Amino acid sequence: MAIDRRKFVLGLGSGGLLLAGSRHLLAADHRMLLPATATPGFDPDIELELVAEPGVAEMLQGQRTSIWRYSGSVLKGNDSSLTWLDGSGYLPVIRVHRGQKLRIHFTNNLPEASIVHWHGLHMPQPMDGHPMYAIDPGSSFVYEFTVDTRAGTYWFHPHPHQRTGFQVYQGLAGLFLVHDDEEDAAHLPPVERELPLVLQDRSFDAQGQLVYLGGMRHDYMMGFSGQRVLVNGVADYQREVARTAHRVRLFNGSNATLYHLRWSDNRPLVVIGTDGGLLEHSISRNTLTLGVGERADVWVDFSDREPGASVSLLAESYSPSLVNFTAQQRGAPLQDDARAVATFTISSGAATPVEAPQMLSRFPALVLEEAVNGNNPRSIRISMGMGSAMLNNRTFGAMDEVADDDRVRLGTTEVWEFANDASMGMGMGGRGGGMGGMMSMAHPMHVHNVQFRVLSRTRNDRADSTQQRLSEGFTDFGLKDVVLVLPGERVRVLMSFQTHTGIYLYHCHILEHEDLGMMRNFLIEA
Ligand code: C2O
Ligand code: CU
Ligand code: CU
Repeated sequence: MAIDRRKFVLGLGSGGLLLAGSRHLLAADHRMLLPATATPGFDPDIELELVAEPGVAEMLQGQRTSIWRYSGSVLKGNDSSLTWLDGSGYLPVIRVHRGQKLRIHFTNNLPEASIVHWHGLHMPQPMDGHPMYAIDPGSSFVYEFTVDTRAGTYWFHPHPHQRTGFQVYQGLAGLFLVHDDEEDAAHLPPVERELPLVLQDRSFDAQGQLVYLGGMRHDYMMGFSGQRVLVNGVADYQREVARTAHRVRLFNGSNATLYHLRWSDNRPLVVIGTDGGLLEHSISRNTLTLGVGERADVWVDFSDREPGASVSLLAESYSPSLVNFTAQQRGAPLQDDARAVATFTISSGAATPVEAPQMLSRFPALVLEEAVNGNNPRSIRISMGMGSAMLNNRTFGAMDEVADDDRVRLGTTEVWEFANDASMGMGMGGRGGGMGGMMSMAHPMHVHNVQFRVLSRTRNDRADSTQQRLSEGFTDFGLKDVVLVLPGERVRVLMSFQTHTGIYLYHCHILEHEDLGMMRNFLIEA
């Protein structure tokens, strides 16, 4: 089995798209430092071992699927610092309290280079998992950092250049959950009443093995779309729940697919948190739209249902070109136009209703008046076409190259505008246009090392019915690190660079787009 896996990897590499070993072009002195060993004097509260390695999981009932996974153990600290999600049991959950110091010994036992990025956290440059730090098979990297983000649902994943999509697809991803005192004061459901749900789509061959894209550039432009929507690594996810309040941590961990979600009994989705942690007050929606990388914490109280009843989370799946491909997916039956991706059966016992908290948190002040460029946003033009996926007509260049217009100052606040209207007015804005034309797609845009506020969305034409439907479920509130930008839209976000200097990334979080180079370095300078 291991031999097959290796062949598959090499086969993809020879497809011509993905150049192996580009990190070797980097002169060693361009890296700020390469921490291979622990720093004496750094006294961690939690010390973990994390290994990326081949493994096996039961994703489809009764089938053994070869995967890549993170394994590991707690070397110091509470056992609850590193656990495994239910479902197929290989997806890790790191759980910490704000202010804690972490040391993580990461070892790469994959047949190719990798590195771990902590998505949504504030990190010193060398700890951020930039592809320039990717380590070779058999080597290790020591992460040391203090958790200084608000309580919330963050995550981690590989970030090697041009291989992120493949590695995440193979199974490498985990949740990074942060708690803090403010959250404790909000009296949310306890950890035992949390329901983390990681949504990822996968395709399988007749032997139950994962099938990814071939090496064709066009396939990468379109992004991967899978035939099964897995939750926590399994198809047809089911779980028994008590007749009381729960905190659902929804996370779209797919490569390219976006989901439009709702409850099967039409109860509202009560959102208490988004990417960057808790909201001030909960917000109710009939549906939620989650692009790749986006998270939503949802309050749900099952005390209104009888024992034995079940409630499902229903999902419609959309490709980045906004084609609804739910009907082509195998799995639990359709309800109207959506499929059940997770089903909760209500357990017996007395109902214990819980009042949803009024006050959840207070936000750090982040106001437009403080921006250095309030009326003149830094514009990031998104374009697809001619076989390329670009930001401001550029793709990712040398590992440490920073363009003059990709520099910001530490301590300042800026408005950025993601403009996804490049194909407008060119007469070729059709869905999934050909290789020669411009493709109009939804791009989930992500910025490292910051959390932003979504200021506005504008468009120069009318949204079609799909776009309107998806817009109703946007989670444009609270603090965000990914924002979904629909075709024809311009989205302005406000962010403040307060924590670190160094080279960070902004990119489209469709992993195939990121791997095509729809990603840029930016420098936070003192
Ligand atoms: Cu999930 Cu570069 O990030
Ligand atoms: Cu990130
Ligand atoms: Cu994209």
